[in-house]
Amino acid sequence: MEKAMKLDRGYLIALEGIDGTGKSTQCALLADYLESVGYSVVRLREPTQGVWGHKIRKILTEGRGDVTPEEELLFFINDRKEDVEQNIAPALEQGKIVLIDRYYYSTAAYQGALGFDPVKIIDDNEAFAPRPNLLFIIQGSLDESFRRIEQGRDGFSSFEKRGYLEKVRNIFDTFAGDHIRRIDSDPPVEEVQQALRQEVNALLGLKETS
Ligand code: TYD
Repeated sequence: MEKAMKLDRGYLIALEGIDGTGKSTQCALLADYLESVGYSVVRLREPTQGVWGHKIRKILTEGRGDVTPEEELLFFINDRKEDVEQNIAPALEQGKIVLIDRYYYSTAAYQGALGFDPVKIIDDNEAFAPRPNLLFIIQGSLDESFRRIEQGRDGFSSFEKRGYLEKVRNIFDTFAGDHIRRIDSDPPVEEVQQALRQEVNALLGLKETS
């Protein structure tokens, strides 16, 4: 396989799903794979490490406190606007593959679960954020997700509550579109990765599956 394949325009691939589905691990493995076959990959995640991302992480560790749902929604939107301007749009213009761990479908599902209209959230985001070429919704059983959250970290964030994540998951279930692929997260890591690579290979016109 030739190295450093130059794309005229980049591709944006987003990984979504509730907490504890192994998204971040899959994102890292996918980046390794794409780099190994010669693509230039930019790996991003939202919330970012920027100023809005820090406000968001404070809510995650300390609870929502007196932050209103409207403010919380605004934090995520502002964080994404910055990410699009500073990272996503420039990388796509340079013909790179952008792999993003969470994107505006997370806002639609998580802040939608607070009572905002998920469809409106998607519309508002698509006014400034490019729609991904591929959107993976990685989802398995809630029990397995909670087991992974418990294993992976010291404790649960303020969003990682069963009733809330159930609502979030139900909203993820409503998303539809040609760019959306649902991937079962319960099988072993390698199997989930194979499923992702198959879809990415199809997008890029690649034959390799390993
Ligand atoms: P997460 O990807 O779990 O980050 P970390 O691995 O650093 O904990 O994201 C943090 C939380 O933020 C997660 O529970 C989902 C939530 N979230 C939203 O509620 N709305 C959004 O728009 C995004 C991007 C994330």
